[in-house]
Amino acid sequence: GTTLGTAAARSGRYFGTAISASKLGDSAYTTIAGREFDMVTPENEMKLDATEPRQGQFVFTAADRIFDWAVQNGKRVRGHTLVWHAAEPSWLQSLTGSALRQAMIDHINGVMSHYKGKIYAWDVVNEAFSDSTGGRRDSNWQRTGDDWIEVAFRTARAADPAAKLCYNDYNIENWSWAKTQGVYNMVKDFTSRGVPIDCVGFQAHFNSLTPYSADFRTTLRNFAALGVDVQITELDIQGAPATTYANVVNDCLAVPRCNGITVWGVRDPDSWRSSDTPLLFDGNGGKKPAYTAVLDAL
Ligand code: XIL
Repeated sequence: GTTLGTAAARSGRYFGTAISASKLGDSAYTTIAGREFDMVTPENEMKLDATEPRQGQFVFTAADRIFDWAVQNGKRVRGHTLVWHAAEPSWLQSLTGSALRQAMIDHINGVMSHYKGKIYAWDVVNEAFSDSTGGRRDSNWQRTGDDWIEVAFRTARAADPAAKLCYNDYNIENWSWAKTQGVYNMVKDFTSRGVPIDCVGFQAHFNSLTPYSADFRTTLRNFAALGVDVQITELDIQGAPATTYANVVNDCLAVPRCNGITVWGVRDPDSWRSSDTPLLFDGNGGKKPAYTAVLDAL
């Protein structure tokens, strides 16, 4: 039968989900995930605190569990994420300046070499911009100097030339937001100067404070016009209204370089915002109206 993955594939796109290693023993979960999706993002297992809990000592147990499950089930993997202000282990919080900059480079090299040639796209840098100003977010990484993002991307390109390299963020879906303009200007600068960047990930966590707006399509178009792929990387919508889900899918389909959509979890209780019931499957594994709307739109 038709699934989200096979429906998306008809236009050359993928349809993915976040996967949690701790749920791979739940057969109701793996049945849905195995059937419906053809791209997998580890929800937490590739983050810095999980992969480098002590400096220089890399741990891939949980990440490999997801990676192996994905490959055994014919799915590709998005790597998430190499450099982020959150999920920082304590050893990293005590570093500054050139020691922190070197730790960033070593981390990127350590994780990307483990998965060299095996990851479709990496979220190299996650959430580096401030919500309000359109400028950079204050973080340990930012205090090492403005060029940290560019250094991360150059390091990533050298570590695994086969992987697409993405910048990923939230609240950059609405074209009128200052944060959207800040990220757009960075990507424009990178592409004009030849800093290696292949894609921009729009998390798309929509809720009443940061609702979906029809100009998401304009945003996707404008970023794509810079010469990068655009992807919807962490989609969930408070209350899962079917029409909003369909609108998001149609926005992606309207932009040739929007080449994939990932929802941030399988069933509502799996969601990081489970009280919002924001996903496509309910707690019993049943298909919600939003599921049908997405499938029909694809
Ligand atoms: C979230 C996970 O879903 C939670 O399980 C975890 O406790 C915190 O991180 N932006 C991102 C994701 O890029 O990594 C976040 O995932 C959600 C927001």
